[in-house]
Amino acid sequence: MQRKAGGLSLHEGLIQGESQVQTLRQLDPLRSAVSALKSDGPLALVPTMGALHEGHLTLVREAKRRAAHVAVSIFVNPRQFGANEDLATYPRQLAADQALLEAEGVSLIWAPDAAVMYPAGYATTVAVDGVSDGLCSSARPSHFDGVATVVCKLFNQVRPDIALFGEKDWQQLAVIRRMARDLDLLEPRAEAIVGVATVREADGLARSSRNAYLGPADRANAAALPRLMQAAIAEIRAGSAFSAALTKLQTALLAAGFSSIDYAEVRAAETLTPLSQLGGAPARLLVAARIGGTRLIDNMAV
Ligand code: PAF
Repeated sequence: MQRKAGGLSLHEGLIQGESQVQTLRQLDPLRSAVSALKSDGPLALVPTMGALHEGHLTLVREAKRRAAHVAVSIFVNPRQFGANEDLATYPRQLAADQALLEAEGVSLIWAPDAAVMYPAGYATTVAVDGVSDGLCSSARPSHFDGVATVVCKLFNQVRPDIALFGEKDWQQLAVIRRMARDLDLLEPRAEAIVGVATVREADGLARSSRNAYLGPADRANAAALPRLMQAAIAEIRAGSAFSAALTKLQTALLAAGFSSIDYAEVRAAETLTPLSQLGGAPARLLVAARIGGTRLIDNMAV
């Protein structure tokens, strides 16, 4: 769809190349385009770091079901990568992403570069207490400050009616929901932050841009992660103590080819408070484990 949002056509801040979907890189044209789209109906935002796969496209399709227009942001956010993480090598493929999003009927791609997102002198960090603690932040200490900061900025830049995130990053979803409630970021509707179920490969492995880092043997072994998590959940449901089921899960992951386990925990699904037994709040099993130098995460309802 070619839309001249806010009277914009070719513009300094607009890259159009082969693609029909408008790709904007500057705030002023973004604001004009968003105003035009929002005058036509609700706008959904799908924040991404690009390297789009079926998991992202599932978010886009769900966004299309819920809103008149869909905006997708593509920004590899330096503030959520640790010093020794894969920022430099994180896959960047804007042309391929544009083609995928155009085929999905997305109205707008917001692809600022780091100097637009964090101009010289930038000094503000959003930190969400409680839900950001432990789990992924143990190995990645400032990761959720980086996520909360950029998502807060994306909400303010795009001003969507709703925003969609994958449940695969469960802690991230909990952090963003808490932040949106605390800072009154989107309309105060319970469904403004939409969590979408994890998309899985045929063997059960959760889709992730980082799966591309796995060699064939590690990729085959990685399917043990969801399989062994399901086995642990079955044991817990059958009455096993959490500690026994989680120790068995970790031993089995190491035997299946994983080199280390960052965490394997059962927590309250919304607040992420640690749990030691079932009952009361819905519970979630969350695991991060490393295989062949790649860190994989997954989570499931208990
Ligand atoms: O889940 C992601 O891809 C990123 O953490 C997000 C939400 C786009 C923020 O950079």
